[in-house]
Amino acid sequence: MLEVENLVQEFRREFEAIKNLEQWIQARDRYLSRERGLLTRALRSIGRLPPEERPQVGKRLNEVKEQIEALLEQRLSELKAQMTAAQLERQRVDITLPGYQYPLGMRHPLQQVREEFERIFVRMGFMVMEGPEVEEDYYNFEALNIPANHPARADQDTFYITTSLLLRTHTSPVQVRAMEKLQPPVRIVCPGRVFRRDAPDATHSPMFHQIEGLVVDEGITMGDLKGTLEFFLREAFGSEIRVRFRPGYFQFVEPGAEVDISCIFCGGNACRMCKQSGWIEILGAGMVHPNVFRFVKYDPNKYTGFAWGMGIERVAQLKYGIDDIRLFFENDLRFLRQFN
Ligand code: FA5
Ligand code: MG
Repeated sequence: MLEVENLVQEFRREFEAIKNLEQWIQARDRYLSRERGLLTRALRSIGRLPPEERPQVGKRLNEVKEQIEALLEQRLSELKAQMTAAQLERQRVDITLPGYQYPLGMRHPLQQVREEFERIFVRMGFMVMEGPEVEEDYYNFEALNIPANHPARADQDTFYITTSLLLRTHTSPVQVRAMEKLQPPVRIVCPGRVFRRDAPDATHSPMFHQIEGLVVDEGITMGDLKGTLEFFLREAFGSEIRVRFRPGYFQFVEPGAEVDISCIFCGGNACRMCKQSGWIEILGAGMVHPNVFRFVKYDPNKYTGFAWGMGIERVAQLKYGIDDIRLFFENDLRFLRQFN
């Protein structure tokens, strides 16, 4: 019995010292291992005791074994809880820390203007179409009633790739491509990039953007042209502006017009931006020339139509008071961020 109580004392000391799973396993094996466990061996040795001591010692040893098992079980769940808590602490995320600032891009001001204009025309029932930037002479000039060697070609100084292939000088070739594909009624706008051998200055860039428009149906008149463009210009620049049509010349329209709006800087009085005239030229337009209809096999006796083209940079310059077109292409973030 004395040895049993010594064993209990010893176990209690060791038990108190258990700090981690490793020590727990050591203690369990030392007392309960089936082969060499101290308790297992004690139980086995009962048979060597004098018969009268056996029942008492046996009873006590079984009690002790149950207690040890229960204590170890309890300590194991404590250790597991500690380990889980420690792991959670290690993996803790501080959700109050400030997050990363991911830099967000924005649309280029020219793209913003282009989309704004597209939306106005889409609301009026127009469809958006695009054409190639590398274009055939036929679409850029020939089918627009500008034959080879005609002096009108000099108006648009052209980057040629071969004698019949060029960088388009305007978006008007998309008119021709569209009419080859579609039958009237046609209502399209064609935004895109165009190229001219113009020396760069405050209002000229060798690469710039235009938006072309085309309407073809039976009975379309100059009145439709005026109404459509006036509506568009008031949507784009504000209902207070005035619109003026002057005679203008383009090979592919007849009659042709240059369209001005009252100066949005001085309200139509006189200032530097409108060169003291009170008006600012905004686009070219006109009734589609019958020769153009013949190229695309539309019957000029049945159909009439109108078309216009305007420079997106020039319009954006007016809209935002930008005094140099080159700012659009320098990608200086201090400039671009002002349109965010
Ligand atoms: C044309 O390009 C005609 N295709 C427009 C047209 C279409 C007329 C349909 C009638 C019917 P123009 O060469 O004037 O026209 O150019 C139109 C606009 O492009 C100009 O008013 C101007 O805003 C812009 N533009 C012309 N050259 C440059 C340039 N180098 N840099 C920036 N914008 C330019
Ligand atoms: Mg012009």
